[in-house]
Amino acid sequence: MSSRNFTRPRPTRRQNAAPPFATVLSRRSFLGCGAALSAGALLPAPSSLAAEAPSSLTFPELARVTDAADHWPAGYARQVLIRWGDPIRPGGPAFAPEAPTAADQGQQFGYNADLTVYLPLPWDSQNSEHGLLVVSHEYATPYQMFAGLTADDYRERLTAEQVAVIKAAVGLSVLEVRKAGDRWEVIDEAGLNRRVTLDTPIRLSGPCAGHARMRTGADPDGRTVIGTMPNCNGGLTPWGTVLSGEEGAMDYFAGDYRALPEPELVERQGWDEDENDEYGLGKFEARFRFEAEPNEWNRFDWVVELDPFDPTAMPVKRTALGRFTHEGAQCVTAPDGRVVVLMGDDDDFEYLYRFVTARPWNPDDRAANRDLLDEGTLAVARFGEDGSLVWLPLVWGHGPLTPDNGFADQADVLFKTRLAADALGATPMDAPEGFIANRVTGRVYVALTENEDRLPRGEGDEAEQVNAANPRAPNPDGHVLELIPPSASGVVDWAADRWRWDTFCLCGDPTAPEQQARFHPATSSAGWFTDPDNLGCDPRGRLWVCTDGPPDAGFNDALYAVDTDGPGRALPKLFYIPPVGAECCSPWFTPDGRTLFLAVQHPGEVKLDGSDAASIADMDTAWPDHASGVPARPAVIVLSRVDGAEVGA
Ligand code: FEO
Ligand code: CA
Ligand code: CA
Repeated sequence: MSSRNFTRPRPTRRQNAAPPFATVLSRRSFLGCGAALSAGALLPAPSSLAAEAPSSLTFPELARVTDAADHWPAGYARQVLIRWGDPIRPGGPAFAPEAPTAADQGQQFGYNADLTVYLPLPWDSQNSEHGLLVVSHEYATPYQMFAGLTADDYRERLTAEQVAVIKAAVGLSVLEVRKAGDRWEVIDEAGLNRRVTLDTPIRLSGPCAGHARMRTGADPDGRTVIGTMPNCNGGLTPWGTVLSGEEGAMDYFAGDYRALPEPELVERQGWDEDENDEYGLGKFEARFRFEAEPNEWNRFDWVVELDPFDPTAMPVKRTALGRFTHEGAQCVTAPDGRVVVLMGDDDDFEYLYRFVTARPWNPDDRAANRDLLDEGTLAVARFGEDGSLVWLPLVWGHGPLTPDNGFADQADVLFKTRLAADALGATPMDAPEGFIANRVTGRVYVALTENEDRLPRGEGDEAEQVNAANPRAPNPDGHVLELIPPSASGVVDWAADRWRWDTFCLCGDPTAPEQQARFHPATSSAGWFTDPDNLGCDPRGRLWVCTDGPPDAGFNDALYAVDTDGPGRALPKLFYIPPVGAECCSPWFTPDGRTLFLAVQHPGEVKLDGSDAASIADMDTAWPDHASGVPARPAVIVLSRVDGAEVGA
C-alpha cells in the first residue's frame, strides 16, 4: 500500500433537523431496501455515542480469515443457489467445463455475478418465498474459465467459440426462485427465465436514440444495438423493471481511437491502453474495431431497463440517464410520485448523478410507466464545504451547456455527460460505487471506494485536490457519505434540488492514527473495513456494505453490516467472508428480511499471497465445488438464519 499522507480530519457536522420519515412510499416502492417498519429516530451526535454502545446486529462477528472456503456466522446457513454454468431452467444443459459451447452458455447462468434483485411473485405482493431473481454478469475472465489459457497468452489464443461463450456469459439472468422447506431452488414454472447477453437485441430510447453518433452499418437508424456490457450493479423501479448499469465498455473495443472523429470523447469516457480489447471481440466481430465501425462504442455505457415479467420484451437503453461508467441505478419515489434514480460514475474524480422523471409513475397501470425514464432531468452533485449539497441540472441551454461551449442539444449533453458535469462545477469524488436510499430514515448512502490519486490542497489540478466530501489525500481506503434530502411533515423529498450531507465513516484501521479512519469507537479489530463498494439495506434500515479492496487491504473482501441510527451508528460487524480472491456484491433482502441474496464475484481471481492467479491451474480455490477438473465458479448464494428469523436481527 502506498504511503499515507492524510490531511487533518474534518470535524463531523451533524444536521439537527427532524429526521425524514418515509411515510408516503407505496408498498411496492419499498422492495429491496427497507420497509418502513418504524419511523427513524433522531441520530445522536457523535459526542454522545457511548464507547460501549451496542449494535442492533445480533450475529456473532466473524474473525478475519482468507482461505479457499467462505465463512458465515454461527446460527446462519449458507446455500449456493446457482453457479456459473448451471442451467437457468430445470433440465437445461449441464455445466461442461471441458467443452463449453456458446449454445449451452446462452441457457446457463453467466459469469461474475454482480447485481441481484428479488421481485416477489406475484409482483403486487410481499411474497418472500417465491419470486424472480434478476442477476447481472459483469465480466468474464477467460483464463479462469477455459483450461490451458493464461493471463499472458489468452488474448491471442482465444478461439471463436470461446469468444462466443464469453459473449453469452455476460449480461443478465432472470430466474424464478422459490423456497422449499429451508432451501431455495431455481424453477421455471412461470416461463420467465431468460438470459440477456452480448448477442441480445436492445432498443435505444430517449434523446440520443437515432442520433448520428448511434448509427452504424448494421443499424443505420441508430435505434437497436446488439448486446449489453459490462453489466455492473443496478436497481429496481417501482413498476417492477430492473435497471442495469453499463460500466466501462471501452475496455472491450479494439483499435486506435485517435482515428475516430471525436477522440477527445473517448479520452473523457475513459481509455486505458493496457486494458482495451479485453476479450479479443474485434478479432471475430468488426463492430468492436474502431476502424471498422467508428460509432459502435457510442452505444454502450448507458443504463439498461429490463422487464423481467415479459420474456419477449426487448431490453431498452435509456439514454436520458446519461452516459458514463454506470455503477448502479437505485430508485426511490418522490412525494409527488416522480421516480428518482441515484447513479454513481465509478472512476476516480468522477461524479454522483441523479435522474428525476418528468412525470409521476402510475401504480395502477404498469404499461403507463413503460417509457417514463425517457423524460426527466439528469443532475450532478456539488458538495458544499458547509454541508450543503446541490443537484445541478444537466439541461441543454442552461448555464454553460450551450452551443458556444460545444453542446449542440440535449442529446449532445447526454453523450458528453462527464464534460457537461465538468462545465457545471460538480464535485469530483473518490470513485463512487454503492448509492442507496435507506427507506426507513430517508437518508441516502454513497460508497466512495478509494482514490490513490487524490491530492492535498495546493498541489496539482484543483479538481484533484481534497474537498470537504473527499477529505483525505491520498484516499486508499475510501469512505461512506450520508446524504440527507429535505423533509416536510415527515415526508422525504428525494427530488428536491438542495440536500445536506455528512460523513458516515472514513474507512481504514481506526487504531492507526495516520490513517485518520473514523468509525464508532467500539468497532472491533474485525469490524472496520476499507474500499466500500456495493451497499444494501435491510428492512430495519441497517446498511450492508460489500468491499472491493484486496489484496491492498491485507485481508479478504467481505460483507459487513452496520447500524445507521441509534447507539450502534457507524459500528460495523463482519458478517460474511467469500473465498480468496472474491468480492461479494449486491446484498438484497426479501421483503420479510429473512433471506439475503448475495453475489460472489471472481472467486480465486487473486491468490492467497495477494498475487493474481494466472490460470485455472494457478488458482488457490475451486469454490464452491472444490472438485477436480472444475474451476472456481462465481455464484449467487443465500444467507439466512437457521431459526428462520430476520437476517441480522
Ligand atoms: Fe462494477 Fe464499479 O464495480
Ligand atoms: Ca462495484
Ligand atoms: Ca469496485
